[in-house]
Amino acid sequence: MKIKIQSGDITQVNVDAIVNAANSSLLGGGGVDGAIHRKAGSQLLDDCMAIRAKQGGCKTGNAVITCAGNLNANFVIHTVGPVWNNGKGNVRELLASCYTSTLDLCIANQIKTVAFPNISTGIYKFPKKEACEIAMNTVMNYLGKNEIEEIIFVCYDIENLILYETMQSPNEIS
Ligand code: APR
Repeated sequence: MKIKIQSGDITQVNVDAIVNAANSSLLGGGGVDGAIHRKAGSQLLDDCMAIRAKQGGCKTGNAVITCAGNLNANFVIHTVGPVWNNGKGNVRELLASCYTSTLDLCIANQIKTVAFPNISTGIYKFPKKEACEIAMNTVMNYLGKNEIEEIIFVCYDIENLILYETMQSPNEIS
């Protein structure tokens, strides 16, 4: 498994699956959720509505998979990160669970390349350094990681980009 760090807009990335930092309603929102829904188009929302009809929304720390609509991907995996809430409760475990739940869906759907945004570090206010450490450590320790060829962390702001590039050890550079 290769880990890549890149800056920019995740809706421009060409991978098997693009990961969305969603909310539990699955009805879209601001931030990367808004960008993905805008670019993907109405098919994405249709799939989200079908999931809502079947199971309600998506719980924090869990993930669901839909089509990718007009995006350069085959799937969108929507995961719901925790709101930081001053670090109270099990927010760290829930953030880690976003990454493992997403990777579980990648394996179940034979997805080989997946792009993550920096989940919970925008509107949900999770501290970026701690979120980066959780993301990288969770991915590196994920047992099934060798079934996945490439994981891309897409950083939209310079602070996250510097954190991820600093955290990435040389032997992971693709
Ligand atoms: N491409 C990549 N990353 C992006 C993009 C984009 N187009 N737009 C925003 N980001 C980055 C933000 O800079 C941040 O680092 O995604 C990270 C997550 O920020 P948010 O999108 O605000 O997501 P989050 O903090 O997880 O909050 C989720 O926000 O948009 C709503 O519906 C969403 O209620 C949910 C909440």
